Amino acid sequence: MAVVTFVPPVGAPITASAPTGANLLSVAMAYGVGGLVAECGGDAVCGTCHVFVSGIEPQRLGAMSEAEDELLDDAAAPRRANSRLACQLAVPAEPGPIVVTVAAEQWRTMP
Ligand code: FES
Repeated sequence: MAVVTFVPPVGAPITASAPTGANLLSVAMAYGVGGLVAECGGDAVCGTCHVFVSGIEPQRLGAMSEAEDELLDDAAAPRRANSRLACQLAVPAEPGPIVVTVAAEQWRTMP
């Protein structure tokens, strides 16, 4: 189980308990975190679940696929070093507290 603090673009942070292996987008949706469009439903084709992850070593979140890398290059919000797509992330075992900040601008036209 991990403690994940989601920071939405508007409103107060939301602290969630997430089991190991849980998909971060699914956890965010379950807790009603705002700002995630997730237009494709987690299929890594829309780039509208863009988040900035901190509090964990990037390699513990798993390798970034080529599709995720390309979508982040084209994301509505400017990409940062800690940018990831929430739908492509699973909670690792014993990660310590994770902070997931939702990118303020998510909307883009799907290809
Ligand atoms: Fe579409 Fe993550 S929900 S890329």
